[in-house]
Amino acid sequence: MARLEVCDLKKRFGPVVAVDGVSFAVESGEILVLLGPSGCGKTTVLRCIAGLERPEAGDVRVDGQSVLRLPPERRDIGFVFQNYALFPHLSVAANVTYGLRHGRHRLSRAARRRRVAELLELVGLSGYERRKPHELSEGQKQRVALARALAVEPKVLLLDEPLSALDAALRRELRRELRRILKERKTTAVHVTHDQEEALALGDRVGVMNAGKLEQVDVPQALYERPQTPFVAQFLGRANLWPAQVVEEEGSAAWVEVAGVRVRAEVLGASAGDEAFLFFRPDWVELGEGPFEAAVEGAEYLGDRWEVRARVGALSLVLRTSQPPQPSLRFHITRAFLLRP
Ligand SMILES: Nc1ncnc2c1ncn2[C@@H]1O[C@H](COP(=O)(O)OP(=O)(O)OP(=O)(O)O)[C@@H](O)[C@H]1O
Ligand SMILES: [Mg+2]
Repeated sequence: MARLEVCDLKKRFGPVVAVDGVSFAVESGEILVLLGPSGCGKTTVLRCIAGLERPEAGDVRVDGQSVLRLPPERRDIGFVFQNYALFPHLSVAANVTYGLRHGRHRLSRAARRRRVAELLELVGLSGYERRKPHELSEGQKQRVALARALAVEPKVLLLDEPLSALDAALRRELRRELRRILKERKTTAVHVTHDQEEALALGDRVGVMNAGKLEQVDVPQALYERPQTPFVAQFLGRANLWPAQVVEEEGSAAWVEVAGVRVRAEVLGASAGDEAFLFFRPDWVELGEGPFEAAVEGAEYLGDRWEVRARVGALSLVLRTSQPPQPSLRFHITRAFLLRP
């Protein structure tokens, strides 16, 4: 069990600023998921933590000690790569015990055999010891890669999109397994993905990255209900973001004017007086009565509800209803926040 801290990490590749002042801490036994679009710097953060990349500035600490001067193999940090990187000519057992045959984590043959049995049981592959990687399914290869990373009992485990090669059903199954395994071993983990559902389901906390910066780190529910920036609001779930003018402050709330209507909004990441965005989720809209009128443009049936696209003057709106929508809808906004642009 170990606590990981990343402090003001910066990394550039020539003119590209890949990581631009990222800081976060992962508590002992906690799973932090880094979520963000392609190219936002997720892999680079992991590679800096593992020692595969040298940052220009910042620090990486494990249990309060900087590991920046240590080479990768002395950092006690495990890495599960997106493409598994299994040794094709070695059996499952030999892949799993690779780190236990050389170097600091060397174990006797009998101890290695016990460790393999235990790890394969953990990842649900008992009896697969003698298979070669080409005799395994994609999901099974992924499990072997996980078992191999866990074999040396790293203080911190880094996982770079380990589930992205799998189909949707297997991804869901394996992410449940992965969470169970990490929790059972009380592993401190940083898991990278661009799949928001995976992030919310797997992470104790989730950090949303955008263009080299970490925009917000929070528990999944807070991230969905209380995004601090327009980017986080839109990247995670469906969001309505309307440009709004603040007309009056009222404690932690403000009155704003949108589409000629005054709306009370909690102030979140924006001060009264600003130009701001009024943010509300599709399900924070109540149909029937209300000051707004929406012209429906289209609707998608999603099984348990309709997702409706509409316009309120020049503003676009997404909302949800359990009924097929009428062409014109009256509504009010039940809950809203003000975000700084
Ligand atoms: N070795 C490198 N040389 C030059 N540029 C690089 C290198 N590695 C990464 N980059 C650039 O740094 C930025 C961040 O890349 P990174 O691989 O960290 O993104 P990512 O968030 O992991 O993306 P993805 O979801 O596609 O894996 C990108 O603009 C990328 O092109
Ligand atoms: Mg990547």
